[in-house]
Amino acid sequence: SQKIIFDTDPGIDDAMALLFAHAHDNVDMVAITTVYGNGVIEDCTRNACYINDTFNMGATVVQGAAGPLTRDPVGPTVVVHGEHGLGTVEVPLDYPINIDPRPAHEYMCDLARENPGEITLVAVGPLTNLALALQHDPEIVNNVKEVVIMGAAFGEGGHRGNVSPVAEANIHDDPHAADQVFCADWPVTIVGLDVTHQTFFTGDYLDELRRSAGEVGEFIWQVSRFYLKFYSEKVGVDGCHVHDPSAVAYVADPSLFGVRKGPVRVVTEGPAIGMTIQKSDERFYHHDEWSCFRSQQVCVEVDNQRLLQMYKDSI
Ligand code: BDR
Ligand code: CA
Repeated sequence: SQKIIFDTDPGIDDAMALLFAHAHDNVDMVAITTVYGNGVIEDCTRNACYINDTFNMGATVVQGAAGPLTRDPVGPTVVVHGEHGLGTVEVPLDYPINIDPRPAHEYMCDLARENPGEITLVAVGPLTNLALALQHDPEIVNNVKEVVIMGAAFGEGGHRGNVSPVAEANIHDDPHAADQVFCADWPVTIVGLDVTHQTFFTGDYLDELRRSAGEVGEFIWQVSRFYLKFYSEKVGVDGCHVHDPSAVAYVADPSLFGVRKGPVRVVTEGPAIGMTIQKSDERFYHHDEWSCFRSQQVCVEVDNQRLLQMYKDSI
């Protein structure tokens, strides 16, 4: 099975993804590295420790960045993920934190160096830790196997941003970091809104998980209550998009997705901050600042029924 470091800002859909990564036979989650995003870093780390302990995941938890590289912090998305990141599920604020003493980016570099070609970085929060890792040890691009990211939106089928008309939350939280990660010379696959907006956990689907999947199903159902309330009040639907679990699904079975190749860049300032653009054609442009960058993969199609079935089967 595929060894991963799961970089996350739990986060309701992050929790759903953690449980999926733990449950799926093709995925071996060696470490959980945390990042600010859906909550402040202390909340995200506490939630990660709680989930790791409660469900006996046995992963090493490592704390990462508390804020973006250069932009002003956007702050936690309380309206989507609740006061402390897991909706109405409150982890005690004094819950014991057992973490590796290194900062997350150092841990990533070390583990990749000790296991060359074996580790996949799966990142489902702002990309700050990955950018810091690139700065700390540029050799990491050769040491990791690949990088899989939940984030970004390229506009296929009208699936543009979720925090602005053009920007997706994880990229918008730290656009400079995201641009560094996409331009680096390592293979990146982006699982963004173009596919996650095609896949949906309905209220019925989550009820069924609760009935059939024991404590894990119950926990997913509990954390999803706040998320579903947000979706019904602000988006007008009964259910939620399958963001972070889709990145795990890609690692477990890439054949679920159709991809498009080409260099990817991020807008780092102005009204379009956080917008992502892929040059996916062979055209000559007069100011081609793009051809120098490595081609990355953007997921544009997903076998939504098969993904939902796989999630249920493994949970
Ligand atoms: C992404 O933003 C966060 O709110 C979710 O956890 C997910 O990683 C979706 O845009
Ligand atoms: Ca997330």
